[in-house]
Amino acid sequence: MNQFENQVVVITGSGRGIGAAAARQFAAQGAKVVVNDLNPEPAEVVVESIKKAGGEAIMVTGDVTASDFPELILGKTIDAYGKLNVLVNNAGFTWDGMIHKITDEQWQAILNVHATTPFRMIRAATPYLRDAAKADLESGKTPENRCIINISSTSGLHGNFGQANYAFAKMGIVGLTKTIAKEWGAFGVRCNAVAFGFIDTRLTQAKESGEVIEVSGTKVELGIPQKVIDARNDRTIPLARPGTPEEAAAGILMMASPLASYITGHTLEVTGGMGI
Ligand SMILES: NC(=O)c1ccc[n+]([C@@H]2O[C@H](COP(=O)([O-])OP(=O)(O)OC[C@H]3O[C@@H](n4cnc5c(N)ncnc54)[C@H](O)[C@@H]3O)[C@@H](O)[C@H]2O)c1
Repeated sequence: MNQFENQVVVITGSGRGIGAAAARQFAAQGAKVVVNDLNPEPAEVVVESIKKAGGEAIMVTGDVTASDFPELILGKTIDAYGKLNVLVNNAGFTWDGMIHKITDEQWQAILNVHATTPFRMIRAATPYLRDAAKADLESGKTPENRCIINISSTSGLHGNFGQANYAFAKMGIVGLTKTIAKEWGAFGVRCNAVAFGFIDTRLTQAKESGEVIEVSGTKVELGIPQKVIDARNDRTIPLARPGTPEEAAAGILMMASPLASYITGHTLEVTGGMGI
């Protein structure tokens, strides 16, 4: 079933992990995909794999937190494909620390990428989502599937040790999601969040493996300390294992699908039951 035939999908941070899996899945279902990442190399690999499989994709690299980024990526999307159907605000990283050690820079960097950027992306998408849907409605045209998926986390829904900044942003995105659902619902534009638990990506590798992200000249260590991974009790996840990026991405496609045409303002938990 090509659920996204002829639809245009923008996914931020889709060079790796969940975003990359979502890009491939959307393309396999007929979508034209705009792949973004901070790093061009992994984004290029994703675009090439989509094309090799017979799909369509372009790459727009860049830091999503740059103030001119939303106009840049959406401008290139419209130049290439002429419209926008699905916006997935996925890019992000963690910069953990217990609250008494979190610096202002650390706090702000995480809010910028996980909360301020999705706000700016949605605002910049107004002409292509809200206004285009309104025009369809007024001219009596059958409305297209138009929606936004924001990525949240169990850390936002329930809080988490060492993640005050991330939890604050990932809960904030739920409020933003519900507000957009209310403001744009009358035009038929949906807005939902997908909250992940423990998905096996670079973000959840052992900190000791040395993964680093460089943002605005600052190197940030990614991952979870090995002793925290070792102490993890399988009973905290009823399905007793981490999710794969593909399983996580499937949650994004579910909420973006035309089959979810009457679902808006919802936060779907893709967590293997973690937090129930
Ligand atoms: N992995 C998990 O267990 C988990 C759990 C809950 C939520 N999430 C969320 O899912 C989303 C995807 O994370 P993931 O696990 O796939 O991580 P990942 O590190 O595998 O992929 C994230 C991608 O985003 C890119 N990125 C980061 N900051 C960027 C920026 N400023 N501009 C452009 N690109 C940027 C990275 O380069 C990377 O390729 C994030 O929002 C994350 O917070 C992940």
